[in-house]
Amino acid sequence: MDIFPMTAQSRSHSHIQSHILITGASSGIGAALALNYARSGTHLILWGRNQERLEQIAKKAQQHGASTETHVIDLNNTNHALECLQHIDSDHPIDICIFAAGISDIRPETELTELPHIVQNIACVNFSTPITLATEMAKRMAIRKSGNIALIGSVAAFHDLPMASAYSGSKAGLARFSTALHAAMKPHNVFVTLISPGYVDTPMSQRLVGARPFLVSPQKAARLISKAIGQGRAHLLFPRIFFITKVLEYLMPRSITHRLLRIANVKQNPSTLK
Ligand SMILES: NC(=O)c1ccc[n+]([C@@H]2O[C@H](COP(=O)([O-])OP(=O)(O)OC[C@H]3O[C@@H](n4cnc5c(N)ncnc54)[C@H](OP(=O)(O)O)[C@@H]3O)[C@@H](O)[C@H]2O)c1
Repeated sequence: MDIFPMTAQSRSHSHIQSHILITGASSGIGAALALNYARSGTHLILWGRNQERLEQIAKKAQQHGASTETHVIDLNNTNHALECLQHIDSDHPIDICIFAAGISDIRPETELTELPHIVQNIACVNFSTPITLATEMAKRMAIRKSGNIALIGSVAAFHDLPMASAYSGSKAGLARFSTALHAAMKPHNVFVTLISPGYVDTPMSQRLVGARPFLVSPQKAARLISKAIGQGRAHLLFPRIFFITKVLEYLMPRSITHRLLRIANVKQNPSTLK
């Protein structure tokens, strides 16, 4: 019996050299990663919620020679996502597992705080579910003595963002989890890579009002990310200029950085999160 909805499949396992699972493959960085990895001999397991966009990406990946399967999975349901992962990996062992799905939100101007139910959503999709699934994946890969896991964090992890405390907090937790898991898994020949992007030109950052300094295209982000995964690096931060802001926040008195961050007063077009 199928425990998860597989919406489309195209594969013949005889010639497949690597199985790659990507969450958040229906948009932005995850979609660009899917196309970056798409080639003959690669089987892409694409997760997302929007079936139509997921299938469009799968079709493009097939045109580049990859075989694909798509799964509509809501990461708010951690247990269901975990069951799906176990089922897929038992069927055909995953070589590279990339947790790209994520959500962001900014405190509405009319509110004193972020909204509790959205904070819960952010915690689940950005932190609880990816760390649960990455732990299961790490165990399975450690038994096989081979594999790569990547978790997409954010440079927001390094800053106390007053208007997005849930987002920056979820990414800070994810960052610590990822580098700690890297330390634990390296002796088992499993490599865990934390990705900390600055602004990438995707629907997520397009919702922000105002400047997006040092903006990177999703295609360039995907190239940098796949290279770092291939090298088994513990951490990739890009663009590098954000390393300076990270160090500055570390060195400056907290009261001053907090004042500066409050002044920054980042806004977004109406939230798509309800
Ligand atoms: N864009 C940036 O500037 C930027 C900067 C730093 C870090 N990041 C991080 O990069 C990652 C990718 O973001 P992006 O910019 O590519 O954003 P995006 O274009 O908005 O894509 C987000 C992806 O996450 C999926 N997703 C959201 N909620 C989900 C849920 N409950 N269950 C399953 N999938 C869900 C979406 O699926 P559906 O569309 O199918 O719902 C979509 O595929 C995120 O982790 C984000 O925090 C982005």
